[in-house]
Amino acid sequence: MATKAKSSAEVSGGFTGKIGYVMAAAASAVGLGNIWRFPYLCAKYGGGIFLLVYLILVATFGYTLLVSETMIGRMSKKSPIGAYKDLTARRSHSTGSKVFAGVGGWVNALVPFLICPYYCVIGGWITKYFIEYCRNSVKVMANDDYFGGFIGKTAQPEIYFIVFLVLTLAIILLGVQKGVERFSKMMMPALIVLAIVVSIYSCTRPGASVGLKYLFVPNFHEFSMMTVASALGQLFYSLSIAMGIMITYGSYTDDSMDVDQSVGQIEIFDTLIAILAGLMIIPAIFAFSGGDPKVLQSGPSLMFVTLPKVFNSMGLGMAAGIVFFLLVLFAALTSAISLAETCVATLQDELHWSRLKSTLIFAIYAAVIGTCCVFGYSIWSDFTIGGFQILDFLDFITNSIMMPFGAFFTCILVFHFVTVKKMDEEIELASKFKRKKIYNFNVKYLCPIGLAIIFASSVLNAFGIISM
Ligand code: PHE
Repeated sequence: MATKAKSSAEVSGGFTGKIGYVMAAAASAVGLGNIWRFPYLCAKYGGGIFLLVYLILVATFGYTLLVSETMIGRMSKKSPIGAYKDLTARRSHSTGSKVFAGVGGWVNALVPFLICPYYCVIGGWITKYFIEYCRNSVKVMANDDYFGGFIGKTAQPEIYFIVFLVLTLAIILLGVQKGVERFSKMMMPALIVLAIVVSIYSCTRPGASVGLKYLFVPNFHEFSMMTVASALGQLFYSLSIAMGIMITYGSYTDDSMDVDQSVGQIEIFDTLIAILAGLMIIPAIFAFSGGDPKVLQSGPSLMFVTLPKVFNSMGLGMAAGIVFFLLVLFAALTSAISLAETCVATLQDELHWSRLKSTLIFAIYAAVIGTCCVFGYSIWSDFTIGGFQILDFLDFITNSIMMPFGAFFTCILVFHFVTVKKMDEEIELASKFKRKKIYNFNVKYLCPIGLAIIFASSVLNAFGIISM
């Protein structure tokens, strides 16, 4: 990422210690992935079993990749494309290595280009909900068809999408993201407090206990390869890994940072927020819709359908709705900024465009792709790719295909080019590497083999060759 961000980081000497890195990484990590995406996937793929698989993956794949990416950045002091080139060249100059470096770097760098536009579409939905709560539409919004009616329109979702996109790009162009990030860090505790209040309310509704059971007690009959593939995709998405972002953040850190411990803190924080979002939404599906399988399976629309019902029944629903969507808006904005900044910086670094030109061209690109996503729910709803609507397709191709592929490359970069021995030494510069054995095993065997299997099954599933 970030020629500009890099130079400003250089001026300030990179992150000031561990706290800076943990805070920046957490600000990028906590966003719609935790609050919107985690609950709907969890509801869809069997509740407790999804949560269990997710937690196992966080502790294994998540941990390993977060450490690897941060260290790749720290050792090369470069953003993904440069980091791949640099670290492979330290070991070999063969054509094969150069191809490896090119593919690995670019797969990582391209993911944010595909995610950012549709992230802004959902950011637009959040903006709409925030405004509607300000207008006191609490009752109307609790209606089952409200959300479907909204995204089924053409102009409205498009306008909100453009508003969110322009806001994101204006912030990075004006160079005020530091201010916004600082502000949203202050809002984060408020978001957590409100989420706790709402979850306590949801969980104490009559009928909610069945939902709690659904969320926490794994039902092994619901397990399938799809559970693993979607939990893994969610893990990448939520922790902002396999898309170059953590490589960039790692490049701003210095050798004195305890990577092992910092990564642990990011994982725990991100996961707790996801579970909290699950606690707000999943018991409410059972309390307000009787655990209707159709609602459980509803996918991207889940939060927008379920939460308004909670707010409507809560008393002070208008205030709760306004504050909640405002806080989520900020969490989404900081994540969107980190996505857009990465894309703009890639254009600056690789094509040597100015910052203004990179931002404007990226804006046009994102507007076009985002518009296709918006229309995919209305006038183009008949158009599907492999059975997916446009937004879902972009989500699928990045999370289930490109990210496992990119993460696989990261593992090879570590164990073949950098070597685990060197990696361990570098990590130990700062502190004892407590999970060294686990890390070494994971990065050499568990992760590459697991990623290859998941990648292959997602591709075969997408082509209808196997059914997961
Ligand atoms: N991790 C963010 C979320 O959970 C999304 C994101 C992905 C942000 C990639 C930045 C980069 O919403």
